[in-house]
Amino acid sequence: MCGIFAYLNYLTPKSRHEVLDLLLNGLKRLEYRGYDSTGVAIDSPQANDIVMVKRCGKVKVLEDAIAEHFSGKEYDEPVMTHVGIAHTRWATHGVPCETNSHPQRSDDENSFVVVHNGIVTNYKDVKTFLEKRGYIFESDTDTEVIAKLVHHLWKKHPGYSFRELVEQVIQQLEGAFAIAIKSKHFPGECVASRRGSPLLVGIKTKTRLSTDHIPILYGKDEKSPQTCEKDTEAQKTKVLPRTESTSEFMPLEEKEVEYFFASDASAVIEHTNRVIYLEDDDVAAVRDGTLSIHRLKKCLDDPHAREITTLKMEIQQIMKGNYDYFMLKEIFEQPESVVNTMRGRVRFDSKSVVLGGIKDFIPEIKRCRRLMLIGCGTSYHSAVATRQLLEELTELPVMVELASDFLDRNTPIFRDDVCFFISQSGETADSLMALRYCKQRGALIVGITNTVGSSICRESHCGVHINAGPEIGVASTKAYTSQFISLVMFALVMSEDRLSLQQRRLEIIQALYELPDRIRQVLKLDSQVQELAKDLFQHKSLLIMGRGYNFATCLEGALKVKELTYMHSEGIMAGELKHGPLALIDDRMPVMMIVLRDPVYIKCINALQQVTSRKGCPIIICEEGDEETKSYSSRSLEIPRTVDCLQGILTVIPMQLLSYHIAVLRGCDVDCPRNLAKSVTVE
Ligand code: M6R
Repeated sequence: MCGIFAYLNYLTPKSRHEVLDLLLNGLKRLEYRGYDSTGVAIDSPQANDIVMVKRCGKVKVLEDAIAEHFSGKEYDEPVMTHVGIAHTRWATHGVPCETNSHPQRSDDENSFVVVHNGIVTNYKDVKTFLEKRGYIFESDTDTEVIAKLVHHLWKKHPGYSFRELVEQVIQQLEGAFAIAIKSKHFPGECVASRRGSPLLVGIKTKTRLSTDHIPILYGKDEKSPQTCEKDTEAQKTKVLPRTESTSEFMPLEEKEVEYFFASDASAVIEHTNRVIYLEDDDVAAVRDGTLSIHRLKKCLDDPHAREITTLKMEIQQIMKGNYDYFMLKEIFEQPESVVNTMRGRVRFDSKSVVLGGIKDFIPEIKRCRRLMLIGCGTSYHSAVATRQLLEELTELPVMVELASDFLDRNTPIFRDDVCFFISQSGETADSLMALRYCKQRGALIVGITNTVGSSICRESHCGVHINAGPEIGVASTKAYTSQFISLVMFALVMSEDRLSLQQRRLEIIQALYELPDRIRQVLKLDSQVQELAKDLFQHKSLLIMGRGYNFATCLEGALKVKELTYMHSEGIMAGELKHGPLALIDDRMPVMMIVLRDPVYIKCINALQQVTSRKGCPIIICEEGDEETKSYSSRSLEIPRTVDCLQGILTVIPMQLLSYHIAVLRGCDVDCPRNLAKSVTVE
């Protein structure tokens, strides 16, 4: 939720207009993370002042406001060193409005301004503490306490550096945050930190970087923090030890350098491919063009340095190209994204599968008591879609769980459980909390994510990166099919040495080989799907029915319809029809039914007959050339045949396309559906 972008140029002249363009562009890349309000803060041309512009609405609204606000010539003057921070918000505390937009400020003079992603859970305590010291709050946000707390500490400890002040502040915060702060008292400096929300630093230099690592500077004496002030009803504001270098790595001291702080790599890739993923409680500070990373406490196995990673992402991956929407592009990328998921893993010549990220853990996984697949939304649906195959090929009990419900129930977890956390972003708070819960109880944690360096990635014991490429549309599409394939590959690995399953494995591997072409065939249905959308878009509801391997498609299809079109939609297990949902059927209720030639075909036909005999006129998704099934309705979509356990990949694509076309016809914002955000980093 929320996108953070900050930019610092050191001895690289840039006009304020150029800085603003950079900030706006960064925000556009991050807009998928939240889009109900936006804001920027830059240095004013008047010495020692910060100007902010904030707007309710999307980045475009801010862009227009900036064009109006910063029109003077002084904004074209190059500045050698400058810091700008920017934010796009998904509201958690306080309605979307200008006052609640970020940056939030410490006082009327904008002494300290902060952009924040996450939730400060103890903000009420901190607020009470600060109010007692005369601070007057102007917004309803939790974020404002951060800006005011830095200010309070700055007044109390005039000798502290900016970084030291932020170190003190984050010790007082509970919950999740990624923050970037700028201050008129520390011009040319930027301090950023994270706990639970993602944040990276991009580095751009004219020449080759002088180092591949940045040393971590640890606190001198973490055992005995001095308490400088106590407050009974609020915080114990402690003066914590200052940090010093303990490392053999060279600090980053470049002559001319630009730094980017961002919630994810898509916002920096057009500037640099050299990034550092910050870890929880890292404090990254830039002063005099030098980046340093600090931590207050050192644990035994903590590293001495943070690695500078080279991003493999290409700029084209985060551009829409000729498509109107990212979602449409991502749907049409699926013939390639599934290949990328399988690349180097499924060896079609030797009919074998190797998953490098979990290879060493397979013996332990084979000894486990049960497999648990945990996720939210679409990621959860990929678990539902593959459960049956996992049960078949692993011969283990497989539980699928919604992360939020799993936590509500305090689900019993044992040391010999293997828990899979499936998440496109790798940052979903509910999934991350569930992961930590299972890890504490000694279970083996396997991450299935699409985001390198994400929290779920880092906190798992082992995992599979789904390699679907950046997914920017809020509605998940290609990540779903790649998660699906990752779990199928895992099932194939687990059954490698089971003689009785060899025939089945071969059949699946062959179908995986043919899958990209099959997906291309399904994508050719687009214009037919568009016609169906014209029939459906004015209705209030859409029921989607199926069973067996295709039940997950019903759930996922209904989720896509809901989130993109704001129409009601429900995925119904066809076996449950007669236990209630049949009452909804009449000649007006829109229904889609998935009826494929698999082991539950006859049962699906029964359900189809139950619907048609109540005057229902379903749209049928059936196999190519299946005239008998088609004869039950005047409207159908024919998909190519594949092995039963992979059908769900082919049946979900018409649902993705249908929801897309209905959304367009209803005038909805396809890539940024109302009230949603791509990465749900709040519980
Ligand atoms: O990043 P994750 O896969 O953990 O996200 C989980 C859900 O929030 C996500 O799949 C959501 O349901 C999508 N917007 C659905 O299209």
